[in-house]
Amino acid sequence: MLDTLDPADPAFARDPYPYYARLRTTGPAARVALANGTDAWLVTGYRQAREVLADPRFSNVPPHAAGRPKPDSPARRARGCLARHMLNTDAPDHTRLRRLTTAAFTPRRVDALRPRIEQLTAELVTDVADRLTRWGAADLVDAFAFPLPVLVIGEVLGVPTADRADLRTWTYQVGSPADALPAGSVDRAWTSLHAYFTSLIAEKRRTPGDDLFSALVHDEAEGGLDDGELLAMAFLLLFAGYETTMNLIASASLLLLTHPEELAAARQGGPARWAAVAEEALRHASPLEGTTWRRTTEEVDLGDGVVLPADASVLVVLAAANRDPGVFPEPDAFRPGRYAASGERAAPHAAFGHGPHFCLGSRLARLEAEVALPMLFGADSRIPALALAADPAGLPYRPGLLVRGPRRLPVVRAGSAG
Ligand code: HEM
Repeated sequence: MLDTLDPADPAFARDPYPYYARLRTTGPAARVALANGTDAWLVTGYRQAREVLADPRFSNVPPHAAGRPKPDSPARRARGCLARHMLNTDAPDHTRLRRLTTAAFTPRRVDALRPRIEQLTAELVTDVADRLTRWGAADLVDAFAFPLPVLVIGEVLGVPTADRADLRTWTYQVGSPADALPAGSVDRAWTSLHAYFTSLIAEKRRTPGDDLFSALVHDEAEGGLDDGELLAMAFLLLFAGYETTMNLIASASLLLLTHPEELAAARQGGPARWAAVAEEALRHASPLEGTTWRRTTEEVDLGDGVVLPADASVLVVLAAANRDPGVFPEPDAFRPGRYAASGERAAPHAAFGHGPHFCLGSRLARLEAEVALPMLFGADSRIPALALAADPAGLPYRPGLLVRGPRRLPVVRAGSAG
């Protein structure tokens, strides 16, 4: 009988690791029944995860893309635009989109964002400090980990400062469960984002800025991206870039708050040690729990007796691969030392994926974490000491297999806890 998995189970969302560890004992990939009545292969072994992500016999094109029904409402049309993005494509379409996008996402352009990221972070740290003064407590997800990546994507897309608050509100709304907000708000937010990005593209065509998105709009190589592709790209950059980075910052914050010895080592160790904290948080917390779904285009023998049939749904579980005990000793321990320059030279984690779809924003995500963590938790922070004001085992996590991170992170000034 197949193992059944209910990704909506809050206990699984909070701590899926025992489940993945158990599944791995049955083999590096296993077929499971999902609570929605479908079944899928979950890849939990590190080596096999990387193999699958680099193997063209696994397709990223959603099976229903060909015969998708006509969108029948503005909100569904907006969602439909997002679905055209490059993570949903295979070579050669993907190769063309990726080449054009990589040409705009140069390391130089990403690194040039550092002063703005520092400025935005400083403003958010001040906001956290104000909340602590006013209310005695603050939620680090709401006040810090969520707004920072959204504001940074605003920089990437060249969204004028006056429109940033709208971008933040719509992003928050489209990311919320439909029943958590007044009826219709989620749909209205989708429609607003769609209309906003449409006019942003028109504006960038008329008056390019020095932002990264303007470079994409004006890249004429290979005919450039058409307006539909640009719209999908704007949505993809927003969604691929904000919740993942939010989870990285929130999870790294939680790990530092619950590992005071590692926080002390980071405070003494300088930028290289903060970078090691970010790297180990990426491995340990896997902000993207699983990649996007793949489908086998033919039968694939993964070795170790695992043969995937043709047309199977496959999910590479990065969270499981990153804790494969055959690759990472003491996989459940948070030990930034494994990524320190003088450390153990741990294997690269798989948090940004692997192969042709390897995360395009990895440099930006690392930069954000390497700026945000020391500015909030470092010895020079304007909030010298923070303490978690909740039982870490009781924090809520978003259900599902795609993204993973705490939804709330209540903190107080150390000394005022309890
Ligand atoms: C901690 C933060 C992040 C994590 C953990 C992460 C992780 C990933 C992973 C695992 C993939 C591959 C998914 C797959 O193969 O199905 C991916 C793809 C992608 N990511 Fe990220 N990401 C992060 C931040 C960002 C940011 C900040 C951006 C951009 C602003 C971004 C843009 C993208 C894009 C465009 C792709 C698609 C690449 C392609 O299809 O070729 N990501 N990301």
